[in-house]
Amino acid sequence: MTTELLTGIGELTTNDPQREGVTGRIHDAAVVIDDGTIAWVGPASEAPAADRRTDLGGRAVLPGWVDSHTHLIFAGDRSEEFEFRMAGHPYQAGGIRTTVRDTTAASDDELRTALAARRGVARAGGTTWLEVKTGYGLDVEQETRLARLAAEVTPDVTFLGAHVVPPGVDADDYVALVTGDMLAAVRPFVRWIDVFCERGAFDAAQSRAVLEAGKAAGLGLRVHGNQLGEGAGVQLAVELGAAAVDHLNFLSPADIAALGSSSTVATLLPACDLSTRAPFPPARELLAAGATLALASNGNPGTSNTTSMAFCVATAVLQMHLTVEEAVWAATAGGALALRRSDQIGAVVPGHRADLHAIDAPSVSHFAYRPGMDLTYAVWEGGRRVVSR
Ligand code: NIG
Repeated sequence: MTTELLTGIGELTTNDPQREGVTGRIHDAAVVIDDGTIAWVGPASEAPAADRRTDLGGRAVLPGWVDSHTHLIFAGDRSEEFEFRMAGHPYQAGGIRTTVRDTTAASDDELRTALAARRGVARAGGTTWLEVKTGYGLDVEQETRLARLAAEVTPDVTFLGAHVVPPGVDADDYVALVTGDMLAAVRPFVRWIDVFCERGAFDAAQSRAVLEAGKAAGLGLRVHGNQLGEGAGVQLAVELGAAAVDHLNFLSPADIAALGSSSTVATLLPACDLSTRAPFPPARELLAAGATLALASNGNPGTSNTTSMAFCVATAVLQMHLTVEEAVWAATAGGALALRRSDQIGAVVPGHRADLHAIDAPSVSHFAYRPGMDLTYAVWEGGRRVVSR
């Protein structure tokens, strides 16, 4: 195996807690990659020799984005619903059923091609790891198919059979199906279970039943909570030890306090908030309470039709009042924690997978300073350069 030295790094975001500041920045840095793994990190002047040398000409380098919340396996388009919403109508979860209809009608190959294209676009913007949820199938056969296809692109597949109740089906009967036959069928393909705990989707008791069944089957827990109004999502997630609770637009002081004293990651979805004109979550209050934040794209055809983590970071800085370092950390190390993979990804430290993102800028501050600009210059996944500009 050849080793590669990346040098000429003007600013390196390491997320190494042993280094100073939120993101452990080093200036004039170098990184050595060996066999897909980070082997050495430090000042360029002290870098060891390697078989190959790449000079990044003063550009900034950070860990690849870790996008811990997506719904990227779907077919169809909901731009009409989006226009309707932008004309002043509120988001309603019922739009999910439109995507269920279109997804169910698509062939495996159509879904596989669409998912691969979306994965490619995300990668081109610096995303080196992502989670994908099912949830646009809503019956045993379709949910299993979505889980199987999603597992072709990521080991972090989440079973979201409990997305909404299909039309004409009794909610409790549907929960029994999700926690019984559907869970058993998807189990070989998924690592996580999730539930949309919200008025109009699943109430507290139904959500608890879904999460407890997932836990008994050996799955990690994730929750869609407090998106459309205050509700039980946060408390349930914290009580059951979920890895993450996502959305968080409507939080009570007790919810903020609970997140502040738990290891459940509070995942914020800024692109979704913009696209649904939702109030932004109280990011600063969450941080002040001691919560761990992640930022994710929530890429899906209804509420957030983007996989741009750079856009999420810019929005989190400009609208949610995170500092640049807090936002970059949340979109990398925070996402890794939300997927319980912080020992492998989300940081540039020896032993981690060599997932790196070099940008055509001297500092990560450019994500917010030049919002909407495509800054990606190069991306490495597991040490392999997969994007070059
Ligand atoms: O995370 N909130 C529930 N699920 C998605 C929306 C999916 C859709 O509308 O198609 C979300 O925002």
